[in-house]
Amino acid sequence: MQDDVLYDRQVIAFLEHIWGDGFLSPGGPEEVARVLAGVDVAGAHVLDIGSGSGACAVLLARDHGAARVIGIDVEAPVCQAARRRVDVENVADRVEIELVEPGPFPFADETFDLVFSKDSIIHIPEKAAMAREVFRILKPGGRFAASDWLISHEGPPSDEMADYIREEWLDFAMASPVTYAKAV
Ligand SMILES: C[S@@+](CC[C@H](N)C(=O)[O-])C[C@H]1O[C@@H](n2cnc3c(N)ncnc32)[C@H](O)[C@@H]1O
Repeated sequence: MQDDVLYDRQVIAFLEHIWGDGFLSPGGPEEVARVLAGVDVAGAHVLDIGSGSGACAVLLARDHGAARVIGIDVEAPVCQAARRRVDVENVADRVEIELVEPGPFPFADETFDLVFSKDSIIHIPEKAAMAREVFRILKPGGRFAASDWLISHEGPPSDEMADYIREEWLDFAMASPVTYAKAV
């Protein structure tokens, strides 16, 4: 097992206790549906960036009708948890979980109809590079639907937030709506 993981088994259990089975962030199925509002998922080939312990990837296939979902994550314990969820929910024919390295996505140009992400891009510091990669792997006319925790201003977080991030050993790279808008 990686020794520098943020989301180890204990953290996964703690967060799922708060946010629900298979979720490492708030909102549950309703939040997934909100992010997908107006997006036609039925029959789509979907990438879920930062799939965590797997609930979103399962919902994309089971409840939203995606034909194929690839969930990617950079940490082994969450991928193991997600694969267990995929098996238990009986969607292994449509959902695959891949452990990847941070950085460029390991997919060919114009692979996906939809790139989805829920509360994971906060861990990716280079928003513009991430957005370039998203649009590279999207088919023409594809959609990018994501939620994330943002910061309200440009520049570093407040002293209080910086303390919190340090104390919790988080790698948060929060960006403002302006930075996100420029990136995409
Ligand atoms: C707050 S969790 C959200 C997980 C899931 N989307 C959910 O809503 O429950 C953030 C996830 O992003 C993953 N992550 C961190 N850096 C990443 C990167 N560069 N690429 C993909 N996933 C990443 C973490 O390992 C973690 O599983």
